[in-house]
Formats: sequence, C-alpha cells, structure tokens
Amino acid sequence: MRSTVLRTALTSLALVLAGGCSSPTGPERPLDGKTLFLQHCARCHGTDGRGVPEVPGVRDLTDARVMEQLRNDQLKMVIRMGKPPRMPAFGNEFTDAALEVLVAYVRSLSAQPDAERELAPATP
Ligand code: HEC
Repeated sequence: MRSTVLRTALTSLALVLAGGCSSPTGPERPLDGKTLFLQHCARCHGTDGRGVPEVPGVRDLTDARVMEQLRNDQLKMVIRMGKPPRMPAFGNEFTDAALEVLVAYVRSLSAQPDAERELAPATP
C-alpha cells in the first residue's frame, strides 16, 4: 500500500521533471490545450478564461462577441507578439502544433460557456 503510493508519487514527479522545462511536444506527452492554457495563460486570464481581478483590462476569453472578431491566425499572432504593454509576447515559446491546440482550447472557452453547457447541454 505505502509503496504503491510512493511509487505513484515518484512517477508523477518524474513526469513533471521530464516535461517541465522541455518542449511541450513529444510522442509520450500529447499536446493538451487546457494544460498549456493553465500553465501559461491562467495567471492572468483565469482558469476559466474570464480573467483575474489582479490584472485590470485583461480580456474575457469566454466572451463570444469579442472572440468572434478574432480569426485563428490573429489569435496566434496575439500569443506570439503580445499586446503591449499588458499582454505578454510568448514569442517562440510554443511550436506551431502547440499554438494550434492552444488556440483551439481558447476558442472552446467562448464557444461553450460553462453556464450554458450546464443549463442547455443538448443545444448544438
Ligand atoms: C501577464 C498577464 C497575461 C498573460 C500571462 C496572458 N495574457 Fe492574454 N491578455 C492580457 C491582457 C492584459 C490582455 C488585454 C490586452 C489589451 O487589450 O490591451 C490580454 C488579451 C488577450 C487576448 C485578446 C487579444 C485581442 O486582440 O483582443 C487573447 C486572445 C489573449 N490575451 C490570449 C492569451 C493566451 C492564449 C495566453 C497564454 C498563452 C495569454 N493571453 C497570457 C494579459 C495576459
């Protein structure tokens, strides 16, 4: 029992160490837009994309009216170039593939707001 817990803990630690600082791509570590978002964006945009109060003027990424103005290539551009002075530029932090899944995840935040998903799960 104890050793199982310990082994699980060590495995998780090894995974964190293996993945932590290296490139987010790799066959054993599939790209996950949500993970990327939580790692890089949530400290300002919040875990749900609505933005944290500590960052004034941060964009609410769940607001469909704002997000539908931005094409996917514009989203990628914003992430790469930032929006000075407050939205940081991520430059080459993300590979093209990583940007792709990250943008898809950011899109999903406004496509299906949590409240609506809970209230009307059947709506297409
Ligand atoms: C240091 C805080 C911070 C971090 C980290 C951050 N953002 Fe932002 N982001 C902002 C702020 C502030 C704005 C509003 C900028 C403005 O309109 O001038 C913004 C705006 C945006 C916009 C809207 C751009 C537009 O043209 O309206 C998008 C999309 C966005 N961020 C995505 C992301 C993504 C994706 C990440 C993670 C890769 C991220 N942000 C990380 C602070 C941050």
